[in-house]
Amino acid sequence: MNDLYILGIETSCDETAVAIIKNGTEIISNVVASQIESHKRFGGVVPEIASRHHVEQMTIVLEEAMNESKLTFQDLSAIAVTAGPGLVGALLIGVEAAKSLSFAHSLPLVPVHHIAGHIYANRLVKEMQFPLLALVVSGGHTELIYMKEHGHFEVIGETRDDAAGEAYDKVARTLNLPYPGGPHIDRLAQEGEATIDLPRAWLEEGSYDFSFSGLKSAVINTVHNAEQRGETIKPEALAASFQASVVDVLVEKTIRAAKQYNVKQVLLAGGVAANQGLRVRLEQAIGTLDNVDLIIPPLKLCTDNAAMIAAAGSIFYEKGIRADLSLNANPGLDL
Ligand code: KG4
Ligand code: ZN
Repeated sequence: MNDLYILGIETSCDETAVAIIKNGTEIISNVVASQIESHKRFGGVVPEIASRHHVEQMTIVLEEAMNESKLTFQDLSAIAVTAGPGLVGALLIGVEAAKSLSFAHSLPLVPVHHIAGHIYANRLVKEMQFPLLALVVSGGHTELIYMKEHGHFEVIGETRDDAAGEAYDKVARTLNLPYPGGPHIDRLAQEGEATIDLPRAWLEEGSYDFSFSGLKSAVINTVHNAEQRGETIKPEALAASFQASVVDVLVEKTIRAAKQYNVKQVLLAGGVAANQGLRVRLEQAIGTLDNVDLIIPPLKLCTDNAAMIAAAGSIFYEKGIRADLSLNANPGLDL
């Protein structure tokens, strides 16, 4: 059988990324151009700036990924691209690039959901075992997803307001930390003790949904109240307390769902999966369960990249999923 080479393209937010994956699991090249420096001074991603950067970076990143791979377009089996969800103007650049390559080189086009990509980053680490449960925590999503086989996604819980990463970024802003705030809070949290009492949103009994806006407001109020009293709060203590609240809820609900759904494996996915506190606590908690395996991707595969899109694209390609040249970016795409 011929080797399967899938080229993946990701431009849903502020990373322009192109990668090539061999036979679904082996990274041949993985290039990511981050725009963080351009968005930092605005405290968040500015959609218009993101689109412009993608236009500038796309051909450069593509060329680098092809050069690194030592392959030609004739060697490729298909082009996989993030079709949504994300910023529409940003997504469009990737989708148009993918359509152009598909047309020019007569290659099949495979649309990929961004969250499916985050989940499939795990397959670049280890073979997936079904049924499994994926905890997806990113800047735009917080979801518990049950999978009974490849390509089957059942959302059993999701956030009702802010995503976990969004809460991290907003809390970081309150502490005057640069964007994206997640890694800064994570670092501070490791230097402090969780001594400040903050809420944990468990929601109704049995619910796998999440809510982080109450916690975010509680942090902001704590800072403002202290300022009014002329007191200062140790940022390390606040970061550690906030992180403890987030991680408690994420880990508790994941463990409960893993037991109820009797899964063989738990996967961690999305930018917040880079969080040290979450990684350590989830590993400890899964360790208490019998015969449940855990995959946590390396940091580079947690935040946005195209290797994960090509990994998901490999599975979808083999399942026969194709798009034609009418493919459009869909900012609200369902999994
Ligand atoms: O998956 P991702 O790269 O982009 C989206 O699809 O949203 O996730 C970005 C999010 C940001 O909110 C960022 O602050 C957060 O992931 N993040 C972290 C850490 N590293 C990145 N949050 C907490 N701890 C971290 N170490
Ligand atoms: Zn993402």
